[in-house]
This record gives sequence, structure tokens and C-alpha cells, in this order.
Amino acid sequence: MDRGAKEAPMEPKERAGRKAAEWIEDGMTVGLGTGSTVYFTLVALGERVAREGLSIRGVPTSVDTQRKARELGIPLVGLDEVEAIDVTVDGADEIDPAFDMIKGGGGALLREKVVASISRREVIVVGPGKQVERLGRSFALPVEVVPFARPVVERALRALGLDPRLRRDDAGAPRRTDNGNEVLDCASPDGIADAPALERALAAIPGVVESGLFIGLAHVCVACDADGSVAVSERPA
Ligand code: A5P
Repeated sequence: MDRGAKEAPMEPKERAGRKAAEWIEDGMTVGLGTGSTVYFTLVALGERVAREGLSIRGVPTSVDTQRKARELGIPLVGLDEVEAIDVTVDGADEIDPAFDMIKGGGGALLREKVVASISRREVIVVGPGKQVERLGRSFALPVEVVPFARPVVERALRALGLDPRLRRDDAGAPRRTDNGNEVLDCASPDGIADAPALERALAAIPGVVESGLFIGLAHVCVACDADGSVAVSERPA
């Protein structure tokens, strides 16, 4: 029997991203994260705005997300109009069992952390391979720095046992964030033994704008495996 064209199976990132849109209810102020997984949350929200008349106010965490959300028809507001965010959906580069994370692979760490800091609920969407026992073993920690201070910050990072590499664009020039800063990707081959302590140490270095360590900010993790199964878990108490 001809059942017509089959729909293409959803990729894990799409499953996780779309699942997270279920946390969003009418009237909410919603933090809109950055990256290829949360993109599918934006798509699902855009569909709900168009089909159901879902009324939300989105707060984008990057210029890229701002542009995509606009194209998808999601109404946006700036932080001058928002004191608290009901739910933020964002991606992660790594998330550990305590729900501490490395973020900033896409360079949006500063705005993502600001938005997370005023979010009542932070829902993290990840595809396969992002859940790790210890942060930093395979993904270099992004640290956003003021360009003037970079040599000073690099020395301070090495003193902390990190191996910083300046993030560059395809032409070889330092890649700038949406805030005009640079990013040092900091390798730590043995991983990060004490992520909260490292976050505090990084914040104390003059010239560091923000680190990609997100400590105690995630509440829910929506993870999709390569086989397409989605697991939703709450941060352990
Ligand atoms: C953006 O700077 C990052 O924090 C992203 O949220 C993170 O890199 C996840 O992106 P993907 O979903 O594209 O892997």
C-alpha cells in the first residue's frame, strides 16, 4: 500500500531541541540560547507562534540567534524590558553529572551566562557525546578576554595549568565575539578537577570578561542519543 512520502527521521539534535520547546507556555519570557541544537527549539517555537498563536517574548543570547529568531517570527525584547526570564533553552559543549557545563563553543558565552543568571529555569539541550564524567578532558574551555589584556591573561591561565589558544577566523585573524572581545580556548588534558574553584579563579583575573564554565545554572537536561532516544533529567539535589 502506498502511504505516500515518508518523513525523514529526525536527527538527535532536532529531537532534543524540539523536545525542549515543550517547557514554553503562553505568556512566558523565554531566553533563547545559541547553537545548532537550540536552533531546533527556535524552529519549534516559531511554528507554535504561527500555528497556536503562542504569545512569548524572546531574549536572544547572540546576534546569530537574534537574526534566526526574527526570521522564524519569534517576538524579541531586550534586557532593558526584562527583570527575570521564565525559561531559557540553551545548548552546551559538555555537561557533567552535577549539571556543571562548558559553554562557548560558538562564542556566545557571555550573553548566555547573563541570560542564564536571571532565568528561573535553564533547560539544556544536547545531542550525543556531550554528557561527560569530568569537564574539559576533550573540549577546550573558552575564556572571553579583552584584547588589550590578552598577553597578561594568557600568562595567568598558564599559571593555572591551562594551555590557552587564541580562537581565529578562517583568515587567521583573532575571532571577535558579539561584544568585540577575543576568545582563548584553554585545553586541560586531564580535565578540570574542581570546576567551581576554576570558575572563581578565572573570574579573578583582570582582563577576563567571562569563562565558559557554567556552575549551578542548569536545571534540566534534555539529551538525545545517537539512537534517537531522548532522556530528560533534573539537576541532582
Ligand atoms: C554557544 O557559544 C555555545 O555555548 C553553544 O550553546 C554550545 O556550543 C552548543 O552548541 P551546539 O548545540 O551547536 O553543539
